[in-house]
Amino acid sequence: MFNETVLKEIKQISGKYPTTRAALLPALYVAQREFGHLGADAYEAVSDVLGVPKAIARGVGTFYAMYKHKPMGRHIVQLCTNVSCMILGAEKLSDFLKNKYGLEPGGITPDGRFSLVIMECIGACGTAPAMLVNDDFYENLTEKYIEEILEKYK
Ligand code: FES
Repeated sequence: MFNETVLKEIKQISGKYPTTRAALLPALYVAQREFGHLGADAYEAVSDVLGVPKAIARGVGTFYAMYKHKPMGRHIVQLCTNVSCMILGAEKLSDFLKNKYGLEPGGITPDGRFSLVIMECIGACGTAPAMLVNDDFYENLTEKYIEEILEKYK
């Protein structure tokens, strides 16, 4: 279940939409933030607060790649390996993340600090390679720059 603050937040979100079903996407995002990923308890909580069947909530949540369905690290590194980034060394950077941090695509560091998700193009082809850490955007990546970036996330 959500605490009172989160319940209030979701109800405020829901009030901006014509139906409670229309509020599912942002409500699931809040649930993901609160639970760390969308599991049965998160879907049940969203279903309860919006009055939407659990099957509908799960159907929406499993449709979109932006929702996580397994435990993730405290910080999510999303590295683009699409064409521009690949040409400019993203595969080498992925190897660097594995060798330096034990971070493999789809995996989590042993200390639970980071998860790595390999992304398709994130719209920064001109300044590739690029990645996101949580909601923060980084471009012109090098191994040294990644080390500096990740140092900020404890
Ligand atoms: S290919 Fe990586 S940002 Fe476009």
